[in-house]
Amino acid sequence: MLDGKRILLIIGGGVAAYKSLDLARRLMERGASVRGVLTPAGQQFITPMSVASLTGDECYTELFSLKDEAEMGHIRLSREADLVVVSPATADLMAKMANGLANDLASTILLATDKQVMIAPAMNAEMWAHKATQRNLETLRRDGILMVGPGDGMLACGEVGPGRLAEVPDMVEAIEGFFAGGNRPLAGKKIVLTAGPTHEPIDPVRYIANRSSGKQGFALAGALVDLGADVTLVAGPVTQETPAGVVRVDVETALEMDAAVKAALPADAAVCVAAVADWRMKAGSNGEKLKKSKDGVPALDLCENPDILKSLSGMKKGRPALVVGFAAETEKVVEHATAKRARKGCDMIVANDVSHETGIMGGDSNQVHVISDTGVESWPSMRKDEVAQALAKTIADALTQ
Ligand code: CTP
Repeated sequence: MLDGKRILLIIGGGVAAYKSLDLARRLMERGASVRGVLTPAGQQFITPMSVASLTGDECYTELFSLKDEAEMGHIRLSREADLVVVSPATADLMAKMANGLANDLASTILLATDKQVMIAPAMNAEMWAHKATQRNLETLRRDGILMVGPGDGMLACGEVGPGRLAEVPDMVEAIEGFFAGGNRPLAGKKIVLTAGPTHEPIDPVRYIANRSSGKQGFALAGALVDLGADVTLVAGPVTQETPAGVVRVDVETALEMDAAVKAALPADAAVCVAAVADWRMKAGSNGEKLKKSKDGVPALDLCENPDILKSLSGMKKGRPALVVGFAAETEKVVEHATAKRARKGCDMIVANDVSHETGIMGGDSNQVHVISDTGVESWPSMRKDEVAQALAKTIADALTQ
């Protein structure tokens, strides 16, 4: 519940601005008071009148308004709140925040405030992926700005990809999570995580794959977000739903996964849960399907894929402070995983027995051994979401000690 909490809601200029009206209502239902600030661009989508009517307070729009400044100056506006929420946070608002610009009411409040700021970005997928936006995002994360979303999917412009405003219930949850406080040891930490299998094409219709469902990795991504981390989840082809608040990048092959992980750096931690295919076809099939021939069975000429975990662990510059790997073993689990940790150079390795009879690969429960330089911890069998929560805490401890 948000009883008595004062939220300053800055509404930027995006098609999703209308969702902020619903957000205001949902926050007020939970006992919060909401004061609205609408940017000039925001006014192209919704009106100050609708904001004022729904919040039961004045809607502030101008920096140089004699009336507003006399009644409630921008400094007071920025201070008389327990949390400042920017929704939708447009690329322009994020750029202003990251660079400390203050040339209108919203940006001036954001520079003047002494309160926590939470942004809910929303924009076209290309704008989101643009180096400038990603650079600004990085700066904002480092500045300790909290973030919810963006989600992935159909955008108002008709394109598909990351950039959808987070759903209102997810924003409410993030705001409640902030006020619940104390349980966000990973706030301000950026974590990149791989999950799922990779598919390595043999020809346009066939591929090499494995049985990984992505369940454990997705659950861990969600558990890390719950502890306040900004998580980029690089996912192989799986049918899992993206946990709220996670930024998801979909890939198919090991080479794509490697590139997406590198693009998501720098990060405070990297967690490699993915069951990356060790091999791919040396040469493509030139886009043609392999045909049966009387010369016999075709030879699959394979070459090795990059080892993402090993290359992250071995980075000379900009290595994540914590690199965590997973070891899927079918025998001598702890012994093999301990050797794997040394071979790959990661700080921590989470080992599990994936032999068929355990039902772990693709199943709902998991029994893991956590191996680090402090020794081996063998945990009891738990549901994958429970393992995820316990691992998230272990990662938080390792990152914040
Ligand atoms: N991994 C990776 N990139 C690869 C292969 C593996 O990042 N190309 C990561 C996995 O995400 C996991 C760890 O390495 O965190 C261990 O993977 P696993 O498949 O168990 O080990 P392998 O390196 O394949 O060794 P082996 O085949 O000997 O078991």
